Amino acid sequence: MKKIAVFTSGGDAPGMNACVRAVVRTAIYHGIEVIGVRRGYKGMVDADFVPMTSHSVSNIIGQGGTILKSARFDEFRDIEWRKKAYDNLIAEGVEGLIAIGGNGTFTGAKLLMENFGIPTIGCPGTIDNDLFGTDYTIGFDTAVNTALDAIDKIRDTAASHDRVFFVEVMGRDAGFIAMQSGIAGGAEDILVPEIPDSIDEVIENLKKGGENEKPSHIVVVAEGEEIGNATFIAQKAKEAMPNLDIRVSNLGHIQRGGAPSALDRILASRMGIAAVEGLIAGKSNVMSGIINDQVTYTSFDDAINKKKPLDVELNKMVEILNS
Ligand code: F6P
Repeated sequence: MKKIAVFTSGGDAPGMNACVRAVVRTAIYHGIEVIGVRRGYKGMVDADFVPMTSHSVSNIIGQGGTILKSARFDEFRDIEWRKKAYDNLIAEGVEGLIAIGGNGTFTGAKLLMENFGIPTIGCPGTIDNDLFGTDYTIGFDTAVNTALDAIDKIRDTAASHDRVFFVEVMGRDAGFIAMQSGIAGGAEDILVPEIPDSIDEVIENLKKGGENEKPSHIVVVAEGEEIGNATFIAQKAKEAMPNLDIRVSNLGHIQRGGAPSALDRILASRMGIAAVEGLIAGKSNVMSGIINDQVTYTSFDDAINKKKPLDVELNKMVEILNS
């Protein structure tokens, strides 16, 4: 293999740059030329390519975002656009691809591979941690710490005013960010889509907090929570308990930014190296991941379609620690 391309796609995640750096430098180490594709699949279609050198990835290991930029490009579902992307890659002499992203990114990569046979390996880059085949995804640890920092600050003001806060965190359909930031932040309740909840239970829990004379109460709500978003649940709680002083805080996209944690930088570097070395070893249509501290490769099919389980026992922990 003489030349590969690397790109980031979908929602950005802290640590993507560390992964790009690892991909570029591992390829160079093995005598392979690398180009970067800007703005993911959109850039592939537009032939928006940049040569990557060891120097072009200097000083990016600690930078949030992605120097290659990212985009959501739904048109890639259409084979015409994939054909255009493939033709552009072939014209550049690209023989393999490294795709850094989440579910949507790997779906695009899988289709490209199936249609045109271009060897591709993915690196799991998403704050949601919702990919099967790796204990953690790139960006998750940083996002959890960002959410935690916000929850700690909200706790200060909640305690000063004896208020109840509903804090909404990201995660799409998964509750990993909510569960981990909630436990670390000492939340009184955590609502995630993986565990059935009801408004009645939320209210019961608020009452219990009152009986225990807790001065403040924080409920962390995953954005995919099935009973509703934080605003809706807060409204129902206010209707049931009008005396409570309730506020809602939606943490939003701050969870996607910021310097990656040490853990994310190391994870991203290991996954980037594993992806390039996997391509060299003839692997394709797989995602590099780390399970029990060991590098693994999981088929795109499994990474996309198998549901990564959230440890629901963690919720028991929340109950114990709030007794
Ligand atoms: O997948 C990452 C993520 O931040 C999700 O947690 C969230 O649901 C979504 O992306 C938001 O996407 P966008 O930035 O396109 O609004």
